[in-house]
Amino acid sequence: MRSFAGRDILSLKEFERNEFFHVFEIADRLEPIARERRNSDLLADKTLVTAFYQPSTRTRLAHEAAMHRLGGHVLGFSDAKTTRAGDFYQESIKDTVHMLEFYGDVLVMRHFQQGAPAEAAKWASIPIINAGDGWGEHPTQVLTDLYTVLKEKGTLDGLTFVCIGDHRMRTMHSIGYALSQFDAEMVILAPEEMSPTEDFLAELDTLGTTYRIVDHIDDVIAEADVIYMEPVVQPDYTVSRDEVPDDYGKTPANYQITREVMKRAKGDAIILHSLPRMDELLEEVDNLKHARYWQEAYNGVVMRMALLSLILGAME
Ligand code: CP
Repeated sequence: MRSFAGRDILSLKEFERNEFFHVFEIADRLEPIARERRNSDLLADKTLVTAFYQPSTRTRLAHEAAMHRLGGHVLGFSDAKTTRAGDFYQESIKDTVHMLEFYGDVLVMRHFQQGAPAEAAKWASIPIINAGDGWGEHPTQVLTDLYTVLKEKGTLDGLTFVCIGDHRMRTMHSIGYALSQFDAEMVILAPEEMSPTEDFLAELDTLGTTYRIVDHIDDVIAEADVIYMEPVVQPDYTVSRDEVPDDYGKTPANYQITREVMKRAKGDAIILHSLPRMDELLEEVDNLKHARYWQEAYNGVVMRMALLSLILGAME
């Protein structure tokens, strides 16, 4: 197995089966620190730099929380408009990264432009973690998701993942790539205008991911072991949610998980959603035995603890 020390985490296309399980094993070893709400000193001499060109609650703060749990240091920006990359200068990724690499030991980047973290990795002397790049990928989220499935199901093989929502989303890409490493089926349910691209499906064919495209939730809900969700109503980033007009797009029932829909699911099916949600996942579902998205959020910290300790060479 390749070492994780000094490695960029840009895509799950390049992840091998035993590497997934190795990261999950390290996560298990570090998990008591998070569960007991302790801070350790594993990364006491390391600094994480965050460069977020797009909004984030979970991804940025989970990386920061993970670094704090391991005794490390954190600096960075959560709004590029407060930096030279977002003002008149529009400073390039190359120039920005040539600064940031001297400010810490690992850089986590979210960017609206697909491929931006890979571009950063070309210039940086420190490892780059992709925290979501445009329509590209979201590898740390999907590592978190698969870790959650493994904890809940005890396996990643023999499972049917029903993936509902906008299949242009980066999480859908990462999970499609990741499932190539497991004996699992990806069932795709999306509105026509949010269907997976032909290029993406060709990549799944090349990687060997087993997938099927369906038209209606009733065709698959009874088969699902994992219901993996993304919104189909995209947010308007220019207004707060309170200000969204009543006639703003509502999720069609075919892409919505409700108590009624879950009555037709297997008793042990689990629901994952990387969040934030719109109305595709109603709050009435939160108290059902199937909901695992809060556990997924907790696991997000544990997963970033594992990744940071591996990348920074504190765990082998
Ligand atoms: N899951 C996720 O990427 O959430 P944030 O956009 O809040 O980081």
